[in-house]
Amino acid sequence: PVLVVDFGAQYAQLIARRVREAGVYSEIVPHTASAQEIAAKNPVGIILSGGPSSVYEDGAPSLDLDVFDLDVPTLGICYGFQVMAKALGGEVANTGLREYGATDATVVTEGMLLQGQPAEQNVWMSHGDQVSRAPEGFEVLARTAHTPVAAFANDTRRMYGVQWHPEVKHSDHGQNVLENFLHKAAGLPADWNSGNVIAEQVARIREQVGTGRVISALSGGVDSAVSTALVHEAVGDQLIAVFVDHGLLRKGEREQVENDYVASTGVKLITVDARETFLNALAGVSDPEQKRKIIGREFIRAFEKVQSDLVAEAKAEGEQVRFLVQGTLYPDVVESGGGAGTANIKSHHNVGGLPEDLQFELVEPLRTLFKDEVRAIGRELGLPEAIVGRQPFPGPGLGIRIVGEVTADRLEILREADAIARAELTKAGLDDEIWQCPVVLLADVRSVGVQGDGRTYGHPIVLRPVSSEDAMTADWTRLPYDVLSKISNRITNEVRDVNRVVLDVTSKPPGTIEWE
Ligand code: XMP
Repeated sequence: PVLVVDFGAQYAQLIARRVREAGVYSEIVPHTASAQEIAAKNPVGIILSGGPSSVYEDGAPSLDLDVFDLDVPTLGICYGFQVMAKALGGEVANTGLREYGATDATVVTEGMLLQGQPAEQNVWMSHGDQVSRAPEGFEVLARTAHTPVAAFANDTRRMYGVQWHPEVKHSDHGQNVLENFLHKAAGLPADWNSGNVIAEQVARIREQVGTGRVISALSGGVDSAVSTALVHEAVGDQLIAVFVDHGLLRKGEREQVENDYVASTGVKLITVDARETFLNALAGVSDPEQKRKIIGREFIRAFEKVQSDLVAEAKAEGEQVRFLVQGTLYPDVVESGGGAGTANIKSHHNVGGLPEDLQFELVEPLRTLFKDEVRAIGRELGLPEAIVGRQPFPGPGLGIRIVGEVTADRLEILREADAIARAELTKAGLDDEIWQCPVVLLADVRSVGVQGDGRTYGHPIVLRPVSSEDAMTADWTRLPYDVLSKISNRITNEVRDVNRVVLDVTSKPPGTIEWE
C-alpha cells in the first residue's frame, strides 16, 4: 500500500481516499509508528499528512526520521512537508506570516510533481511556519508571495513536498499533484478498483471461513447490504442473513429488506422480531453511550440466539455457525481509535460496543473501505440503486435519535416525522445534495404551542440535514426554505405531540452528525 502517515489532523483520511481515487490502494498509519513498523507494511509510497501544529511547538507530532532512509518515494504535505524539510537539512522558519485559504502559487519548475500544470494556480493553504530554504539537493518547484519554497523535489532520492493541501477540492490541480506523485514519481499503476477489491475480498472470505457456516447482520443499510452480498458471493448458501427488527427502524425498512433485498440477491433470510427485548433493555436509559452499548449488546445476543436455534436444528456434526459478518467501515475503525492515534469520539456500535463474551469470529470485508467505495462495490455486485444509493443510517437506529429514554410511543412519533422528512426531501430531488438528514426527537423537551383553539404542550423535532464527503467533517445543508416549510407544516400537522420543528445549523466539528 501507499501509507499515509497521520499527524493528527482530519486530513489523513481524505488523502487516503484521494490516493484510492487515483487507483492506488492506501492505508493510514499513526505518526508514532516506527520506521521498522512502516517498512514491515511494504509501502510502495509514503505520504506525510498535514497536521495541526508547528514543528517548533512543544509536543509537536514527530516521525521516526529513519523513515526517510527506507528508499520509498515520499511526499510531504503541509506539516508533513515541513517535517521533511527540517529532517533533511532545510530550514523552517516562523516568520509570523500566515497563509490560510485560497492562495496564488507560481510554478517555478514543473518537475515531475507539477508536470503539465499551469504556471499560476490557485491552491489551498493552512500554515503559519514556512520552509524558508529547501534541503540540499532539492529543487524548488513553486513559490507564493509569502512562501519562497512552496513545493520541492529531489528526483534522485524520490522525495517530494508541497506546502498546500492537494487533497482538498479547493486546490485547483490538487488531485493531479497526487497523481503525478503516485504514477510518475513513484511509478505506481492505477490498478486498484472495485472489481479487484471484490476478487480480493472473495478470496479472503473463502480462506477465513472455509466450509464453516456464516450468519450476517443485515440492517437494511448500505454497509450491511454490501458486506452480506459480498460474503454471499464468496460462500453462497453457507451464509444465512439475519435481520433483527429491533423496533428502532425507520418506516418501511423491514419490508424493503424482506422483499427487495432478498429478491435481488437470493440470500437466505431469517427475520427476528426482537422489538420487545430491545425496548425492555433500553427502559429507563437516557445516556447515549449506554444506549449504544446496550443496543450493540442486544444485537449480538439476538444473533447468538439464532445461532443456537440453528445448531439445535442442525442434525449433522460441524454444522455450527461460527462466523458473523459485520459491515464495519474504515472510518469506523479509525474513529474508534483502532487505526491511528486518534481520539475515541463515539463507540460506534459495530466496533466499540461489542460484548466481551462474543461467541462469533467476525468477518468484516469492508474494514478497509470508505463509503463511496462500498457503494461502487455494491453496484458492481448488482444490488439495486434503492439500496446502494441509500443515505447512511446508524446501526443503533432511531434509538440514538430520541434524546431521552426510548419508548414505543416516542419511536412511533419519530418514525412518522422521519418518514415525512425523507419523503419530502426525495420529492424535492435533494437526495444527492445531502449526505443524510437525521430527524431527532427531543423527547425530554416540551414547548408551548397553539393549534386550532387550544394550547399545546408538545415536543420539538430537529432536522439535521448535512452535506459531507465522508462523515468525518460535515456542513449543514442550506435546504430551500419552501422545502423546510413543507416538512415543518406536514410534521406539525400530521404527527401527534409534535408542535415545533427546528433546524440544526451546526457544522461538524464541533457538532457530530447524530445528536447522540
Ligand atoms: P457522527 O454522529 O459520529 O456520525 O458524526 C458519523 C456518521 O456515522 C453514522 N453513525 C453510525 N453508524 N453505527 C453506525 O453504523 C453507529 O453507531 C453510528 N453512529 C453514527 C452517522 O449516521 C453518520 O453518518
